[in-house]
Amino acid sequence: MKLRPAFAGRRAILAVLFALLAATAMLTGCSGGDEQGKESAVILGFSQLGSESGWRIGNSRDIIAAADRAGVRLTFENAEQKQENQINAIRSFIAYQVDVIAFSPIVEDGWTNVLTEAREAGIPVLCTDRLISGADADLIVGFVGSDFYEEGRRAGNFLLKKADRMEGDPLRIVEIAGTEDSTPMRQRAIGFRDAIKGDPRFEIVESVSGDFLKSKGKECMQRILEERGHDIDVLYSHNDAMTLGAIEAIEAEGLTPGRDIIIITVDGEQGAIDLLKEGKINCVVECTPKIGDIIMSLSKKLAAGESVERYTYSAETVFTEFDENLQDIPPRGY
Ligand code: AHR
Repeated sequence: MKLRPAFAGRRAILAVLFALLAATAMLTGCSGGDEQGKESAVILGFSQLGSESGWRIGNSRDIIAAADRAGVRLTFENAEQKQENQINAIRSFIAYQVDVIAFSPIVEDGWTNVLTEAREAGIPVLCTDRLISGADADLIVGFVGSDFYEEGRRAGNFLLKKADRMEGDPLRIVEIAGTEDSTPMRQRAIGFRDAIKGDPRFEIVESVSGDFLKSKGKECMQRILEERGHDIDVLYSHNDAMTLGAIEAIEAEGLTPGRDIIIITVDGEQGAIDLLKEGKINCVVECTPKIGDIIMSLSKKLAAGESVERYTYSAETVFTEFDENLQDIPPRGY
C-alpha cells in the first residue's frame, strides 16, 4: 500500500500565490497580514516506517485522516521497512523546509546525523509511536504514542492471574518478539519480565524475533514446535500479526490455541479480538494506533513556536478471557 498525497511543486505554487496576494494587498492598500496568517496551513512531513501489520496500516490511515480534519498539509512518506528510506524522507522534508517533521523510527539507533541536520535547519522533530536511543534524545522535541513497558507488564500481570487458577509444573514460555532494536521490542520484553520476575511458576525457554510480521510469526512458531514438540505452555507474542501467523502453525500441529497453549498478544486488532471471543487467544493487550489527532495538535503548537510535553502517552487497556463483556467490545477500526 502506498499512501502519499500528491504535493509536487507545492512550494513553488505557494510562492506564486503568496506573491499574487501580496501584490493585491499592495494595490488595494490593505496589509492583510492577519488574514494570511490565519489561513496558512501547517506543513507536516511524516515518515512512516512501513506497512508490516494491520496496526501499522491503521496508524497510517488515522494520521492521514487526522491531517485532513485538522487542515494540516501532510507530506506522507512510507519507508517500506527500511531505515535508509526514513533518513532520505527526513532529508527531503528538510530540503522542502516543512514546519514540523514527525516520524515513527523503525529502530532506535542511527538517527544522529539526520536529526542534527533537522535541528540546524530549525525544524522541530516529533517521534511518534516509537522512540530513538536515549543518547539522541535532545534532538527531538517530544514523543507521542504508547507506553510499551506498561504493555509488557500488563501481559505479565495477565499470566500471573492465569497461573493463580492453575496447578502443576512451571509454565514454559516462548516469546516471539518484534523488530530487534525497536522500542516496542525492548520495552515489551522488559515489562513482561519485570511482572513475572522471581516467580518460580514461570520459565522463559526461548525468545526469538518475528519482526512484527505474520509470515515470520508463523515460521518462528513452526520451528519452535518442530524443535520442542508440544513442550510449550505459553506464547507471548509482541504483536497481533505475528500471533495470527503463530496460531496457524499451532493449529497445523493439531493443537488448540488458547487451551493447549496460552496465547498472549499485543495490539488489539479486530482479528485478535475475534479470536479472543472464540477462545483461541487468552489475552489481548491494547496498543492503539489512533494517535493522529494528537500528532496534529502538537504539530500546530510546534509550528507556532510553542513547546510541547516531552512524552504524551495514549490511554490503553487490556482485554482478557476473564472479562465478562467481551461481546460488547466495539469494532476496533484496525
Ligand atoms: O510500534 C508499534 C508496533 O508496531 C505494533 O505493535 C505492531 O503491530 C507494529 O508493527
